[in-house]
Amino acid sequence: MFRKTALATVAIAAAAALTLAGCSSRDAGTPSSSSSGDAAGFAKDSLIGVALPAKTSENWVLAGDLFTNGLKEAGFKGDVQYAGASSPVQDQQNQIQSMVTKGAKVIIIGAADGSQLGPQVKAAKDAGVTVIAYDRLILNTEDVDYYVAYDNFKVGELQGQALLDGMKAKKAEGPYNIELFSGSSDDANSAVFFDGAMKVLQPKIDDGTLKVVSGQTDIKQTATAGWKAENAQNRMDTLLAANYAGTELDGVLSPNDTLARAIIASVKAAGKQLPIVTGQDSEVESVKSIMAGEQYSTINKDTRNLVKQSIEMVKELQEGKKVTTNNDKDYDNGKKIVPAYLLPPVIVTKANAAEAYANDPTLAPLTK
Ligand code: BGC
Repeated sequence: MFRKTALATVAIAAAAALTLAGCSSRDAGTPSSSSSGDAAGFAKDSLIGVALPAKTSENWVLAGDLFTNGLKEAGFKGDVQYAGASSPVQDQQNQIQSMVTKGAKVIIIGAADGSQLGPQVKAAKDAGVTVIAYDRLILNTEDVDYYVAYDNFKVGELQGQALLDGMKAKKAEGPYNIELFSGSSDDANSAVFFDGAMKVLQPKIDDGTLKVVSGQTDIKQTATAGWKAENAQNRMDTLLAANYAGTELDGVLSPNDTLARAIIASVKAAGKQLPIVTGQDSEVESVKSIMAGEQYSTINKDTRNLVKQSIEMVKELQEGKKVTTNNDKDYDNGKKIVPAYLLPPVIVTKANAAEAYANDPTLAPLTK
């Protein structure tokens, strides 16, 4: 219950900030320095822990190597751990506890379940460790010092808008038949993505431009447990069988690329015409799919920049400087407002892929 409140707070605050700013981005604030939790600095070769969730999408796979190399280059001892797929929460709890025991000065956490780390981050704080939530906010605890992420509410808004734009480009007039998917309910980001998308889509559902043929619009119905492709594929199979005999499906809101490809596979297997499908993460296979005209859109949240920003925070802490943040008001985790550094996500379709990935050596060649 409480978790829901915390998430709602994040989303409402995000929406309010958007209204206040009167523009489409709320991360444009002038970077400020935050005073919460800063230590007096520590030795340059200190241990820095990085606890990542299971490898549910390519961004997490990339983050591990980038942290290992980036921390080493900056002169720190990095301890980068992933949660396993079978018991991610328990694995991560143990890994964080062990990083505290080993004397880490900073622990960066991409939470497997942001609502289940209270005792571990408390142990970290009690030992004088600075805790940084990476990509996913850690909820319902005072013991998280900073949050570094792409603007996830904005990600959702971009996905919702891309879905509308893609369908309109294919068929000028609605009504459009759509289905909605969201991420895993244990990931605090899932509700933020969904709320961002629904901010764009709900008015169009209300005025009849969009029709969710299955009627499944509640996040409990749209969720994809564990962010697993097979769960999205099974749900799409069921939705198609139950609702789309003789009916065209125009679009699907998918929260990320892994699920987008599973949804596309389901539609293909059902022998139906491909709908507009959104995504997120700029995974290699999805960029190929976009260039081939199958998946419609993805989001570029360049993991290199997010890891770089996280390591900047660690450097500031090491030097005993104030940590730079650019949003100190929107990220209420249920117990405190967590000072955040947000990066801007970018929507990518076939039309702007070459430009969007111009400086990405892996993705740029795919857009030629
Ligand atoms: C990340 C997404 C990712 C998803 C599944 C989310 O918390 O923000 O980029 O697709 O987790 O791994």
